[in-house]
Amino acid sequence: MSPPPPTEGFRPPPYPYDRLRELQALADGHPGGCVDLSIGTPYDPPPELVVRALAESGAERGYPPSIGTPAFREAASRWLARRLGVDLSADLLAACVGTKEFVAGLPHWLRLRDPGRDTVLYPAVAYPSYAMGATLAGARAVAVPVDDRFRLDLSAVDPADAERALCLWANTPGNPAGGLDDLGAVAEWGRARGVPVFSDECYVEFTWDGPPRTILEHGTDGVVAVHSLSKRSNLAGARAGFYGGDAGLVGYLSELRKHAGFMVPGPVQAAAVAAWDDDAHVERQRSRYRDRLERFRVILAAAFDVEVAMPGGGFYLWAAAPGGDAWAFARRLAVEGGALVSPGEFYGAQGSGHIRVALVQPEARLALVAERLGVA
Ligand SMILES: Cc1ncc(COP(=O)(O)O)c(C=O)c1O
Repeated sequence: MSPPPPTEGFRPPPYPYDRLRELQALADGHPGGCVDLSIGTPYDPPPELVVRALAESGAERGYPPSIGTPAFREAASRWLARRLGVDLSADLLAACVGTKEFVAGLPHWLRLRDPGRDTVLYPAVAYPSYAMGATLAGARAVAVPVDDRFRLDLSAVDPADAERALCLWANTPGNPAGGLDDLGAVAEWGRARGVPVFSDECYVEFTWDGPPRTILEHGTDGVVAVHSLSKRSNLAGARAGFYGGDAGLVGYLSELRKHAGFMVPGPVQAAAVAAWDDDAHVERQRSRYRDRLERFRVILAAAFDVEVAMPGGGFYLWAAAPGGDAWAFARRLAVEGGALVSPGEFYGAQGSGHIRVALVQPEARLALVAERLGVA
C-alpha cells in the first residue's frame, strides 16, 4: 500500500513584533537607546498594595479554582458595578489567564460546541489575535470592514458569513485606532442572527470620548464582555482577566476551561482582588496616558507635519503615514527619533497606511525623542 500523500501542516507565521528587529537596531544606535513605543506593554509600576497582596497571599500551595476564587469573582463583579454601572452576579463571570489566551483559544472551544459553524468575524483593523484564534481553530477569519471612525460596519457582513459565525468580536475602545463602537447595536445585531458577541473591553477605563461603555449595559443575552488587569493596573506580567455575561456561554466556557487546566495562579488571584477594588491608581494612569497622547501628537505635527486625532479611547496614536508608506515612516522614526513604532499592517490590511504609537513610555523618554527630532 502506498503511504498517504503528505499534508501541509500549520507553520506559525513570524510574530509581528519580531519583524521589528532591524528597526529596533537602528533606534538602539542613538545615545540613550531605543524608545520603544511598539508593543502596548505597560512600563509604569503596578500599585504597591497589589504587589503586597501578590507577595503575602499564602496561596501558593494548592490548586487555584479555574473559574476564579469567590473573592476574585466578587471583586470583579463589584468593579463592574462601581466603574461601569452594570450589575453582573459573580456567578456569571470567570477568570482567565490574561485575555490573550482567551481570545486566541475561543474559536476552538466554540467550534467544539457548534461544529456546524466555522467562521470568526472581527474588526478589519484590529488586535491580531482575533484572526489568529480562528486560524488556530482551523476556522475562517472574516474581517468586518470598519468605517472612517474605526467602528464595525455590520451592514457589510455577508449574511452567509453571519450564518456560519461562531462569534463576532468587538473591541471598544479599539486597539489600534481607538474607535468606540455602538455596543447596543452590536449586541442587537448578534442576537438577531444568533451570533454570540464577544466584546473585548480591556481599555475601557481609558475612554476619552464620553463615559466608559460595556456591552453588558445592553443585557447579557448572547453577549460576553472580556476584561483584563494588564492595562488597567499595569499587571501584564501577572496575567489576570475575566469574561462575563451570557449564562450559557460563560457556563460552557468555564466548564471546558476547568478540564483544560486554565488557572490564574492563586497569588495572582489575590493580587487581582486588590487591583479590582482600587480605583485611585487607575485615575493616575489615565492622566499619564492622556498627557502622553497629547505630547506625542504635538511631536508628530512639529517634526513631520502629521496631524493625528486624539483617539476615542486607549493609549495609542493611529497616525496616517506620509505618502501612505508605513514602513518608511516607522524607519524615519527609528533613524531620526530613535523611536520604535508598529506599522499598521500588523493590525490588518486596511491599516497598512498607518503607524501605531503606544504611549507606554514616561515623559522623559518622549522628551528624548522630541530632542532627537529637533522639536523639543
Ligand atoms: C485589544 C486587546 N485585547 C487583549 C489584549 C491582551 O491583553 P492581556 O492578555 O494582557 O489581558 C490586548 C493586549 O495588548 C489588546 O490590545
